[in-house]
Amino acid sequence: MVLAGCVTCSGMGLGTAHALAGEPEAKPTREFDAGLLTEFASDGVYEQFARRERLLVIRKQGRIFVSSSTCTHRNCVVKFSNENNELRCPCHGSSFDDTGTILEGPATISMPRYGVWVRNQRLIVNTNQLFTERNWDKAGAFVEV
Ligand code: FES
Repeated sequence: MVLAGCVTCSGMGLGTAHALAGEPEAKPTREFDAGLLTEFASDGVYEQFARRERLLVIRKQGRIFVSSSTCTHRNCVVKFSNENNELRCPCHGSSFDDTGTILEGPATISMPRYGVWVRNQRLIVNTNQLFTERNWDKAGAFVEV
């Protein structure tokens, strides 16, 4: 399904009414302040917001991005395994690599990412803006560090 005018939500089943009307998604920004960039100083998966905010802050190869922490199968919160360097769902066994890319089902799609930007050296997340895998390299889906 291609949703015209909605680069951040295609394939997610979101914003369908807007897309069918030919209008871009127009959800208001919902900001979450994830903290100072210095709190994410090294590469890795930061899980402190996984349950309460349903998001993971991930730093890898000069980028910080924020992934949903819920499995794309049936929304259980995933858990990072240092041993395997992957995100694993405790409910039915799906796994994702340390960037949220799907590795093994029953989930079939990678984990979406939220819009992010930096304000006053703090990482701000727009939890109303989702980027599916094919849009992960678009402006707003990550910050460079
Ligand atoms: S909810 Fe994650 S595998 Fe089913």
